[in-house]
Amino acid sequence: MSQIGLPGHEFRLFGLLAEGKRGVFQAAGELNLDQSLVMAAALSLQKRGWVAIAEEQEEVFTITEAGRKIMAEGWPEVLALRRIKEQGGRVALQKLPGLLGKDDVRAEVKWLLRRGWCRREGEELVVTPEGEEEKGTEDIRFIGELAGFAGQWVSAERLQANLVQALALLKGRGELFKRKQQVKRILALTDEGQRVWNSGGVSELVEVTQLTPELLVSGRWRTARFKSYDVTLEAIRRYPGKAHPLQRIIQEVRRAFLEMGFEEVVSPVVETSFWDFDALFQPQDHPAREMQATFYLAIPAEGRLPDEELVKRVAETHENGGRTGSTGWRYHWDIEKARRLVLRTHTTATTVRALAQNPKPPRKVFCVGKTFRRENIDQTHLPEFYQIDGIIIDEQASLATLFGTLAEFYRKMGASDVRFRPSYFPYTEPSAEVFCRLGNLGWVEMGGSGVFRPEVTEPLGCRTRVLAWGLGLERLAMLRFGLDDIRKLYWADINWLREAQLCR
Ligand code: PHE
Repeated sequence: MSQIGLPGHEFRLFGLLAEGKRGVFQAAGELNLDQSLVMAAALSLQKRGWVAIAEEQEEVFTITEAGRKIMAEGWPEVLALRRIKEQGGRVALQKLPGLLGKDDVRAEVKWLLRRGWCRREGEELVVTPEGEEEKGTEDIRFIGELAGFAGQWVSAERLQANLVQALALLKGRGELFKRKQQVKRILALTDEGQRVWNSGGVSELVEVTQLTPELLVSGRWRTARFKSYDVTLEAIRRYPGKAHPLQRIIQEVRRAFLEMGFEEVVSPVVETSFWDFDALFQPQDHPAREMQATFYLAIPAEGRLPDEELVKRVAETHENGGRTGSTGWRYHWDIEKARRLVLRTHTTATTVRALAQNPKPPRKVFCVGKTFRRENIDQTHLPEFYQIDGIIIDEQASLATLFGTLAEFYRKMGASDVRFRPSYFPYTEPSAEVFCRLGNLGWVEMGGSGVFRPEVTEPLGCRTRVLAWGLGLERLAMLRFGLDDIRKLYWADINWLREAQLCR
């Protein structure tokens, strides 16, 4: 019979299994190979009909935070037992808190009695012979061993402690460890495999993994067998440095608007109330302006206003509608309030500045920037977040242009489920909220939009229709990355940062 040459790993595994079946983990240990290499060799031998791979359920355990804590701080009843022994093995229950230096000793007493290390005699605790020897600590041993495996899941066979005793002792002890079922793969030779091995018909095939000068000079390369690459094998993952996923989304947003012919603008993060609120016809007693909603600057508290003429036109519009034909808000407009500096609450401050600077149509402008509001942090809210604002200055522009532009933007960003719902903003009429469907959160509000009222455009010297919107960036990122919690974007969760998809 001719010899069959087997690659090194396969040959060694074959020999090991000829001695008896093994779990993959065990075989990997004995052969000093990675489990994935053992599995690859086993699959190859299985193909030849020499090895059978069976699956068994096995129970695995791991330590919890509470388990780690009790190992680090000591088991309360063990500490208590030692103190009682120092007292001659007998202590009045009343004195126990003093002895242990804590008010609540119920847990200590409970476990001393449960373990049979002490018994009660009247109002005293007395150490028993079992307590003298500190008998029955398989549970402590078990948790201690798990602690040694630092967060790994381990099967009982890798532990020395007696599992049955340990689990019995741990009953009612709270979550010191966790358990689950796991598939274990058992490798064994088939009858055919055993026959082939016994016949001595296989030998180790020495394969060359690297071409060396020696192989070339000696000419042995002519006859050598070169190992082929197996690109299906699991390999070590490499994680090079890369831009944060949120930064990538920002770049995509910019690209989307630039592709649609928009011009990008920026403006300061610290803004006067004038541009954040007043220029947007937001009344000075509007709740959004209150301290509970907006971050005001203490130092400096006030900023510079634009030229007097513009301020005057805005003031008149608030007070009586100015030249807009509107009645205005009918109150006294306070210039001091307009000077107050805030952390901008929306990037509509940015687009309205751009509008004031050059209101000549046609113009399409967008910006992406940080905004701040006094929000309570939850699944969908942050006090510091990004917005995407934009305006279209064009007499031909209609609501259809607005919805079409936003739908196209979201389509470019990979969200095709977009809806609009009538809404209200002090600076637009009509107004609409923008919704996108976001995984299991359902329809999520992405931002607001509308047509700027004449009370906004007229004082800035703009006679043309202006479409405007302000959208949340983080929510778009959630949609893209399938997150149901906005905070995840700012947690430095290294696993998520590594695995987050770069491309669509
Ligand atoms: N500024 C609004 C917000 O922050 C959104 C918006 C912008 C609404 C422009 C209408 C027009 O929610």
